[in-house]
Amino acid sequence: MTRITLPRPDDWHLHLRDGAMLSGVLPETTRHFARAIVMPNLVPPVVTGAEAAAYRDRILVAMPEGATFDPLMTLYLTETTDPADVAAAAASGLVKAVKLYPAGATTNSHSGVRDFDKVRGVLEKMAEIGLPLCVHGEVVDPAVDIFDREAVFIETVLDPIRRATPGLRVVMEHITTKDGVDYARSQGDDLGATITTHHLIINRNHILVGGIKPHYYCLPVAKREHHRLALRAAATSGEARFFLGTDSAPHVDPLKECACGCAGCFTATNTMSLLAHVFEEEGKLANLAAFASENGPRFYRLPVNKETLTLEKTASAATWPAKIETGAGPVTVFDPGFPVFWHAID
Ligand code: DOR
Ligand code: ZN
Repeated sequence: MTRITLPRPDDWHLHLRDGAMLSGVLPETTRHFARAIVMPNLVPPVVTGAEAAAYRDRILVAMPEGATFDPLMTLYLTETTDPADVAAAAASGLVKAVKLYPAGATTNSHSGVRDFDKVRGVLEKMAEIGLPLCVHGEVVDPAVDIFDREAVFIETVLDPIRRATPGLRVVMEHITTKDGVDYARSQGDDLGATITTHHLIINRNHILVGGIKPHYYCLPVAKREHHRLALRAAATSGEARFFLGTDSAPHVDPLKECACGCAGCFTATNTMSLLAHVFEEEGKLANLAAFASENGPRFYRLPVNKETLTLEKTASAATWPAKIETGAGPVTVFDPGFPVFWHAID
């Protein structure tokens, strides 16, 4: 097969930032994607419905000419989040999910949750109204090895929260382990899991062998090869619980290429080419539509996009800019390290 047409894909986990960075990276997403769940970890974070409305307006102002793209907004869960504000923002259609960052887990997560008892009222309200909780699933205990933080989170935080809040709809975001895949498969349809493009391509060796590669560093950090293989099997399986969330997370190069580099891989530009490559390698091109276009809307109870995106395989390798020049500075595009022959026909 050298050509495949999908319902226009959506990105169920995306960082767009704000200001000059937002304007610089937004066209990279709107080129191929119809919608995205927009992460709220700005500085300061997007906590209230009013803040989400204002952020959505700024995104719409930054849209490239002629683009049709619907930013799906999220609220950043804090220990003082008001359940009534969350419910109102969901009822108005503005907010499609609430994001849980354990405090200190990743970029701009210091306003996140330390004491889960303090968010009980919000979680109960969300279970009542069916609003999904998007979870960054890593414990922050310094005693837990960074490569074990997802597995420990599932057992000690995620499963207890879900048991304590029956009916709460949860997305395990950017799963990176076989443990995450297995847990998602063992649960009912109130649990979904997103998988990034880069975690299908790199394992921890890619970050560390032959010199440290800051543009492969993200959180949760890529794990051992057997985890990557479990993620590839899950993503390409067609199972409804697994869907695309790129976690495309732009940082300007000076903040990645330094002694304490930021976490994040920027994949908005080439994700669809890379996914076609991966799905073809797995012999599962027919399931790319499920992963990138159908399973996400089904979980979020939204329609599948009517528009389409066509991907074509040609003899010449796809090219993309090594860096996106934004008004905030250059952002390096994720380099898979191998040629890719699939092109999205914009
Ligand atoms: O790699 C990451 N980058 N992981 C996250 O959880 C946050 C993100 C960011 O905002 O840069
Ligand atoms: Zn993220």
